Amino acid sequence: MSKVINLKNIVLIGMSGAGKTVVGQYISNKLNMEFLDTDDIILQKTGKTIKDIFEKFGEEYFRQLESQVILENCLEGNKVISTGGGAILKDINRKALKENGILYFLKGTIETLISNIQSSPSWENHRPLLNKGSLYDNMQNMIRDRYKLYEESADYIIDIDNKSINEIGDEIIFIFKQ
Ligand code: S3P
Repeated sequence: MSKVINLKNIVLIGMSGAGKTVVGQYISNKLNMEFLDTDDIILQKTGKTIKDIFEKFGEEYFRQLESQVILENCLEGNKVISTGGGAILKDINRKALKENGILYFLKGTIETLISNIQSSPSWENHRPLLNKGSLYDNMQNMIRDRYKLYEESADYIIDIDNKSINEIGDEIIFIFKQ
């Protein structure tokens, strides 16, 4: 009988523009682990863009969907999970993600995050908290409000500045395999 290897989840946390989705996909391909993106699951479940959900039902409704997706999908191991930037704001989400996962905070400077965001063509549909007013100011406020929480929630902090997707992914794989 083949042995079932039960691995913990690799959970990527951090701000918009940190590359959680692309790095998660890279890791999932390399380790042959299932990949989940909490925002994508919300999109599939509702058939709506995140911008639409925020506009029609408000942020709290989105946060409820996000918690539901995390509780339904993230408790088993063996997955690579890319979370939305605000997923760690709720206690219940942090607890569920930590239950069977190792959390890696992709940490970058505001310049790196903004440059990554702006290189994705339809970023506004996905980031209603950032698309009104100055992107720089919105990002700066979010970094101020959230970085401590990301750092406290993380098992590992991964510096993403001036690194390629492969370099970031390989660094996480190296730590995960220890
Ligand atoms: C959010 C980040 C977004 C998305 C939603 C809210 C946030 O995900 O979940 O717009 O609160 O930071 P990304 O981190 O993939 O941009």
